[in-house]
Amino acid sequence: MRYLQIKGGNKLSGEITISGAKNSALPVIAGTILSDKAVKLINLPKVVDINTLLKLLTMLGGSVVRNEDGTVDVNNANISSTKAVYEIVSQMRASILVLGPLLTRFGECEVSLPGGCAIGDRPIDLHLKALEAMGAKIEIKGGYVRAEAHDGLKGAKIVFDKITVGGTENIVMAASMAHGTTTIINAAREPEIIQLCEMIRDAGVKVDGIGTGTITIEGTCGKPLDFKDITIIPDRIEAGTYLCAAAVTYSTITLNSVNMEHIATTIDKLEGMGCSFTIDDDKITIHPATQLKSVNIITTEYPGFPTDMQAQFMAVATLADSESIIEERLFENRFMHVRELNRLGADIWLKSHSAAVRPVKELFGADVMATDLRASSALIIAALAANGITNIHRIYHLDRGYEDLEGKLLALGADIKRLQE
Ligand code: EPZ
Repeated sequence: MRYLQIKGGNKLSGEITISGAKNSALPVIAGTILSDKAVKLINLPKVVDINTLLKLLTMLGGSVVRNEDGTVDVNNANISSTKAVYEIVSQMRASILVLGPLLTRFGECEVSLPGGCAIGDRPIDLHLKALEAMGAKIEIKGGYVRAEAHDGLKGAKIVFDKITVGGTENIVMAASMAHGTTTIINAAREPEIIQLCEMIRDAGVKVDGIGTGTITIEGTCGKPLDFKDITIIPDRIEAGTYLCAAAVTYSTITLNSVNMEHIATTIDKLEGMGCSFTIDDDKITIHPATQLKSVNIITTEYPGFPTDMQAQFMAVATLADSESIIEERLFENRFMHVRELNRLGADIWLKSHSAAVRPVKELFGADVMATDLRASSALIIAALAANGITNIHRIYHLDRGYEDLEGKLLALGADIKRLQE
């Protein structure tokens, strides 16, 4: 197994470019199933999760051509199977996003249940309830969701009991080719939902309420869509992760290709900790605090503070001048990084869904274990500021969602290498 070795203490400097957003690229790739024509995808991040979903498309009979310039041409005209097998879905739960598009285009599909993951049970009950409201017959058997709608899905009013990013994405895609109008109430409003809605609108589908909690979609009654080229939006979580790395090492760095609106909460919280920023269009430079101040965080749906930034901020807060309180409201087990951060010398205490991050003067390098994607990046952030050597094991978690992480950190002056156990 490979692991990352980081020698902490280096200041970071220079600039890097933020990649396309993994959590936007995944629904966009699933959405290409709605078309029987070629579509070009631009700025896809080169990460494992994207490769996994593109592999699923080819297993279904779609064609995927990776071009020299990094763009990817997808054509799902010849999809011959509507079964998303356990082998793929168990690797990447977001594969469940093919459920809506396959069902609305082909009238039937079988998708392996995604199962939970380290951060929580992550059920898909809201996805299934919504598809049933649109006329689908859903059966769960042998670990698979079998869905049928041979006369096509019907437009319906969908009210989500909880705001769900994946649920909203599945229903937006299902509704785009349904017979009639679908209204989604209590829809997620993340930037990736906006990108998906715009992709479908730009293919000629009537979509209202983009970016709001109520989205209305007039389906094409089974007619496949014809997409324009799609450029994936910048990754707001990757950007926030590097800003946290700069904050905790008291460094000045510049990030290119950032959507400032998408990282407004990250900027706000880092300003509260004493950092400042210079912004010029899609370029942002962070200027370090003289001494990091504490931060209080409650994770919530967009445009609130993102749960995907919770672990990274906790790593920064370990070296603040006073106690921080971090409350995780979206997932029931998203504190796996706490015990690993404490192995580095942090002083973090858990009580139900909240963490008290008590200040320590310094962190010390140690062997630690990555447990999920964002927890892994939190360990890197802490390791960059720790005295001595930190070895981070099980880094396959990182490779799922951060493009060329070592390369970008090396370019910023970090002392980091990937070694073999
Ligand atoms: C997306 O997951 C992201 N993944 C997650 O990012 C992110 O943490 C999450 O949204 C919340 O922002 C992708 O976009 C690929 P949800 P998703 O459905 O869609 C509950 C990362 O690190 N729920 O919004 O699975 C669920 O258990 C990943 O990049 C139900 O109860 O999240 C959770 O508590 C991690 N029933 C809450 O809703 C359902 O049917 C939010 O889940 C669906 C969800």
